[in-house]
Amino acid sequence: MITYTDPHYRTFTNLRLSLTDACNLNCVYCTLGNEDETMADHRPQQPASFFIDLIAKLQQQLKLESIRLTGGEPLLYRHLPQLIQGLQQLNIQDIKMTSNGFLLERQAQVLKLAGLAAINISLDAMDEGVFLEITKRKNLKRVLAGIDAALQCGLSVKLNAVIIKGINENQILPLLNFAFEKNIPIRFLEIMAMGHLYHNTHNHFFSQQQILNTIATQYQFEPIARKSSATANYWRTNEGHVFGIIANETTPFCHDCNRLRLDAKGNIYGCLSNNNPIFIDSNLPQYALAQKIQAAMQQKQVHKFAGSELSMLQIGG
Ligand code: 5AD
Repeated sequence: MITYTDPHYRTFTNLRLSLTDACNLNCVYCTLGNEDETMADHRPQQPASFFIDLIAKLQQQLKLESIRLTGGEPLLYRHLPQLIQGLQQLNIQDIKMTSNGFLLERQAQVLKLAGLAAINISLDAMDEGVFLEITKRKNLKRVLAGIDAALQCGLSVKLNAVIIKGINENQILPLLNFAFEKNIPIRFLEIMAMGHLYHNTHNHFFSQQQILNTIATQYQFEPIARKSSATANYWRTNEGHVFGIIANETTPFCHDCNRLRLDAKGNIYGCLSNNNPIFIDSNLPQYALAQKIQAAMQQKQVHKFAGSELSMLQIGG
């Protein structure tokens, strides 16, 4: 087994697997609400064996400890139970997902039984009108029902809320209060310069400090020490509730990033901000695979996320 580390002692222990670039929401930060970019129904999907074979191949040289299933929207992928079971057979115990929760209510139980441990659910608004403005879909209550279903069947749940200036900064406190009531950890995200926002976040950017100022109008809180490779900064309120902020722009976390990405075409990427795909297939000789993993390692940023022409829809959250 080769241990891949770069001059900054980073390794790959954590895989983000994008199962499809289709999505059933059309959030403004990914697509500007343009449905053609996301519509899923007739796109071909890979069989579960495609992903399992590639990850088995990667596992010959990496010690992947955890996999996060992403998209697009991973709940649109039709072979999730087989995939999750196959990944467990590769000795990857920690299998998680990031989802918009829209299709979760009826899938939560099946996924939990298949071996899914945890799910991060994107929820950017508690108000139906703001939800519609961001996602271009009605029915926030479907997401809320998905959250309840996930909690009920014992999945570990976290919430992600992207804060977009002028659109949902007034949702920070309602989202926080909802999370505190349900006892669900919540993280607010600074908007990232991806896709159509590349070179163009200035009108929408709402910083960690602005988020904290908003929360400070209702709560008092203290910072908590950051865990290694964590994406979020965390605080604890005087009442004992915890919240986080993923401040990609103002407090970058590249320096100890341990994530590798794999997309549904069989490309690996060492960084969210790198759109040079590195194609792998399960027949590669070991030395060729080693070179490709090394090339992915070189894509990692040293200090700071540099932005990307790809949106999260294309490369996965
Ligand atoms: N900036 C910040 N967060 C984003 N997400 C998608 N696109 C962006 C962006 N440009 C969020 C999703 C999801 C997580 C994976 O990333 O809403 O919660």
